[in-house]
Amino acid sequence: MKYIINILAFILFFIGCASENGNRMSLDETELGLRSASLYSENVNLKEFTYSTTPAGESIVIERAYENAPPMIPHDVEGMLDITKEYNACIDCHSRENAPLMNATPVPLSHTYDTFKDEQTNAIVDIRYNCNLCHTPQANVKPIVGNNFKPDFRDQNSKNKSNLLEILDEGVK
Ligand code: HEC
Ligand code: HEC
Repeated sequence: MKYIINILAFILFFIGCASENGNRMSLDETELGLRSASLYSENVNLKEFTYSTTPAGESIVIERAYENAPPMIPHDVEGMLDITKEYNACIDCHSRENAPLMNATPVPLSHTYDTFKDEQTNAIVDIRYNCNLCHTPQANVKPIVGNNFKPDFRDQNSKNKSNLLEILDEGVK
């Protein structure tokens, strides 16, 4: 009896392997990603593109991708990057003190909130210092892969305003 069970298990194992191979979608590694080139090649021809050259103060803000998404940078960032430990040009214009003078959007309260100590501070907290971790300039290029995601804004204001800190605990008891 034990012998028959072993043979059966053996046959089933092979059937399993065969059908797995039959169904497997195999992709060659040169077909991965959007670069259409071997993963080992550094000679990839990127499409020509330029970032916005409209100076800060003259650009038109871009509608948020979804409610409380980090807004994209609508203006030229020439000379403002890289952000270093010593200097962050973004803060010069976007800090809550300077923004009204520069006519720029002030950083929201979530950016000055110390989540470790659970208290509001009066300066941009370290974890928000590297602005371009989340906010990126945009180039006018057609996406290679289409996307039909449609954001659902609960409030029309949230298309160009954020309120993350106020609603952060929503649904939490
Ligand atoms: C010289 C001042 C200035 C500097 C420096 C600056 N900005 Fe701005 N930024 C503005 C102004 C003004 C606007 C509003 C749009 C406009 O008038 O061009 C703006 C808009 C934005 C917006 C869009 C806000 C929204 O409500 O949609 C983001 C995001 C942004 N800036 C991020 C940055 C980042 C990140 C940096 C640093 C790389 C930076 N800015 C540097 C002045 C500045
Ligand atoms: C960890 C990601 C992250 C970093 C880093 C970050 N932001 Fe944001 N930012 C967000 C998100 C998400 C929002 C929208 C939700 C919110 O927080 O209110 C936002 C919103 C904003 C807004 C729009 C405010 C409004 O009233 O609608 C401005 C301006 C902004 N950030 C500027 C900056 C600047 C300048 C820095 C660097 C000093 C920075 N951010 C760093 C994620 C980030």
